Amino acid sequence: MSPQITTVQTAPIAGQKPGTSGLRKKTPVFMGRHYLENFVQSILDVVGCAGKTFVLGGDGRYFNDRAAQVILRMAAANGAARVIVGQGAILSTPAASHLIRLNQTDGGIIMSASHNPGGPNEDFGVKFNMANGGPAPEAVTEAMYQRTTTISEYKVLEAQDVDLGQIGRHKLGAMVVDVVDPVTDYAELMMKLFNFEAIHTLFKSGFRMRMDCMCAVTGPYAVEIFENLLGAPKGTVVNAIPLPDFGGMHPDPNPTWAKALMDEMFSVMAPDFGAASDGDGDRNMVVGRGIYVSPSDSLAVLAANAKLAPGYETGLKGVARSMPTSAAADRVANALGIGKYETPTGWKFFGNLLDAGRATICGEESFGTGSDHVREKDGLWAVLLWLNILAVRKQSVAAILRDHWAKYGRNYYSRHDFEAIATDKADAMMAALRGSLAGLPGQVIEGMTISAADDFAYTDPVDGSISTRQGVRVLFQDGSRIVYRLSGTGTEGATLRVYLERYAPGPDGLDHDAQAALSPVIRAAHSLAAIAAFTGRSEPDVVT
Ligand code: G1P
Ligand code: ZN
Repeated sequence: MSPQITTVQTAPIAGQKPGTSGLRKKTPVFMGRHYLENFVQSILDVVGCAGKTFVLGGDGRYFNDRAAQVILRMAAANGAARVIVGQGAILSTPAASHLIRLNQTDGGIIMSASHNPGGPNEDFGVKFNMANGGPAPEAVTEAMYQRTTTISEYKVLEAQDVDLGQIGRHKLGAMVVDVVDPVTDYAELMMKLFNFEAIHTLFKSGFRMRMDCMCAVTGPYAVEIFENLLGAPKGTVVNAIPLPDFGGMHPDPNPTWAKALMDEMFSVMAPDFGAASDGDGDRNMVVGRGIYVSPSDSLAVLAANAKLAPGYETGLKGVARSMPTSAAADRVANALGIGKYETPTGWKFFGNLLDAGRATICGEESFGTGSDHVREKDGLWAVLLWLNILAVRKQSVAAILRDHWAKYGRNYYSRHDFEAIATDKADAMMAALRGSLAGLPGQVIEGMTISAADDFAYTDPVDGSISTRQGVRVLFQDGSRIVYRLSGTGTEGATLRVYLERYAPGPDGLDHDAQAALSPVIRAAHSLAAIAAFTGRSEPDVVT
């Protein structure tokens, strides 16, 4: 007898609107009655489910395993033909993107709240990626949201859990569930893109690396790739076991949250190269011995040197960066004579450019870098490309950065975050700022003249879609820039992000501390937006 499909009566739940990257809420909210089910049914209603094949996996955070079983039962009840699941319901976000593409599936559901902490009282999230492997575009997530506002029932199969620990084929009613090793296919893709032999030789020569996986999803991937395949000494990868609460860590690879790695990289016995990745494995931070690599610089260096890796030896088609990311990558694109693109924040905006073959490498200041090999940013990919470059150039990270600045000049850059501000205060500040824009050009502040001020809008060059209100920009005559926007991924109040940039053409003035070099821009940012008056905050919580 085949298992029974139950139709459950439900009612819309307010606030199921996906943000920058899917629907993210506090775990207890997601675990609330009908909450996950309403959202999953809305996804399936919008993308269609009957006869389709999907990928399913998540970053292993608290509730990941149980949510996976619910999603499987709902997919089966809605008539899906097949779901490919990472063993233990684990898949890094880039690995999920790869599996969607490799198996030519109809898309995938990723359970993750990325770099947000995990646990019974922390964050959980669900997002849908399309058949191209990339996050659903805004029109699709908006349709999902609209569906959540009218939903009245969902379908679920009455069946026991699938044994997701067991690799191989399972059945759930009429639906096939293929449980796969989460690492194998991803590692194979990396072997195609990078010169593993050169990196292997580098490790054999005594090169030392520290990879901090922050008790999140990349642990098994990093151990397999760096230690088993590339011959890095055992123990190179730390915090390598994914834990439901990330061991209490905040799995966001930046100097604040990956402090242990920063301390080690600035110590007397520092390894040659350090890296960290986030909860779901799409972000990365890269550090040399005694030198931090800002993500904007990392993007520029990777673009300038990509040809040294086999996967990119024929050159890049173009480089894309999110608007708040520094213009360092633009200078590389200009020098290479290739396309350059400036998109709103969020990886989904790169999808069309990658699909259309306009861009090969993309990056965001928020520790995200990636290429057309998948349709997500990819933390380990960035670390491997750096290793490939280090192995071929046989120079230190510091030497490579200094070379880069000498050639292109340096875009001093920093982001200041003000977290958990009352939403009404943050909104009032942004509204006042938007209201003041017309009067700003021509004003002089901190000795710098404002040349333009606007609210960033983007017209996608591929499909013509328009995204407005993507962040307030204040541009100065000397090339300095301030950007203000509110986070779309937070789950508590509002997070104000202030992005600060100043260009030094060189040859002098390339070696300053970034915060010191930016100090007039920082002061201008505070006074232009009256941050303290509106929010009561005069110091950021996180500086990257
Ligand atoms: C943040 C980052 C953004 C990134 C997103 C998902 O979004 O700023 O670059 O794409 O996380 O990782 P935000 O919270 O700023 O909306
Ligand atoms: Zn992430």
